[in-house]
Amino acid sequence: MAVRDHPDIPAVSRRRFLKQTFAFSALAAVTSPLLRCGSGSHTEDQHPGNDAEAADFLVIGDWGTGDDNQALVATAMQRYVTQQNITTGAMLMIGDNFYTPMDDGANDRRWQTQFEQMYPAGVFNCPAYAIPGNHDYEYLPIPKYPAELEYAQKAGTRWTMPSQWYRATFPTAKPLVTFLALDSNMPFGNDVTRKGTFYCMTEQQRLDQLAWLKDELAKPLTTPFLVAFGHHPIYSNGMYGDSPILMQDWDPLLRSFGVHVYLCGHDHDLQHLEFAGHPTSFVLSGGGGAPLYRILTDESVRGPYAVQINGFSHVTVTPSLMTLRHVDLNGNVVHAFTKTTDHKVTIL
Ligand SMILES: [Fe+2]
Repeated sequence: MAVRDHPDIPAVSRRRFLKQTFAFSALAAVTSPLLRCGSGSHTEDQHPGNDAEAADFLVIGDWGTGDDNQALVATAMQRYVTQQNITTGAMLMIGDNFYTPMDDGANDRRWQTQFEQMYPAGVFNCPAYAIPGNHDYEYLPIPKYPAELEYAQKAGTRWTMPSQWYRATFPTAKPLVTFLALDSNMPFGNDVTRKGTFYCMTEQQRLDQLAWLKDELAKPLTTPFLVAFGHHPIYSNGMYGDSPILMQDWDPLLRSFGVHVYLCGHDHDLQHLEFAGHPTSFVLSGGGGAPLYRILTDESVRGPYAVQINGFSHVTVTPSLMTLRHVDLNGNVVHAFTKTTDHKVTIL
């Protein structure tokens, strides 16, 4: 069950801390003193259902346990969108989609019980854009990743994984967001501590994906917003911490091309990190069902938000604004912020 990791900072300070506006400036420092100070307006979270041009998608990471905890989060998602009258236009399934063995691959019954029925089409009648986590790369004794690619080819499924990495726009009509879906399972190299039952992409695949990413980013952007997502965090206050290889490979590209948000999971918690002068917001949504991990760096040190909690994320996009929310098992929005096309972040 979810155990909330209460921050040690006083409530008043925390509330003041959360209601801030962050303006991106190319002149700001480019190495990491975090944006923990600032002034600005507080914009109330308005439900986007009032905006005819708004579109909504959900994000869920580290969800594929098949146990009661996955079901709790899935039920919370259903209740939330129903009560809020949200039409879910897409789900982003950001890795660790299936823990433990899946012996029958693309024909395994877990596809029905842990995906199709767990997130029913009657509620989520939309594509589920998926990427692999480390557990999808696991040998038990066969890897699950090829099965996930194969299942996406079946008629009638919402499971969307056209290739190892891919580009998509959302929604289909009048797209507002370009998604760059990435495989973050970087080669282990000589790091024997990370092997065991896991495998990973090859060095050639790492280079191929990096070249692809550069090409995609160089193309003219046809949507107001650009979102990249991979399973592993580039920056995390959780157990796994920051990723040197992703900081080397991807972070400079996100910065150079002004990617609005990088979404990830892997650490089993919910986070939102901002860095001074960095145009990208780093949002971690790893509360989809797997046992929770402790936060190692408090949000008062690097934030604005990092809490050990189960939940999911809800994103609303309009032509001029993205609103991102972390939602807990009770349907409460525990953290939210908006981002403009020109990278101004306002904590709600
Ligand atoms: Fe993971």
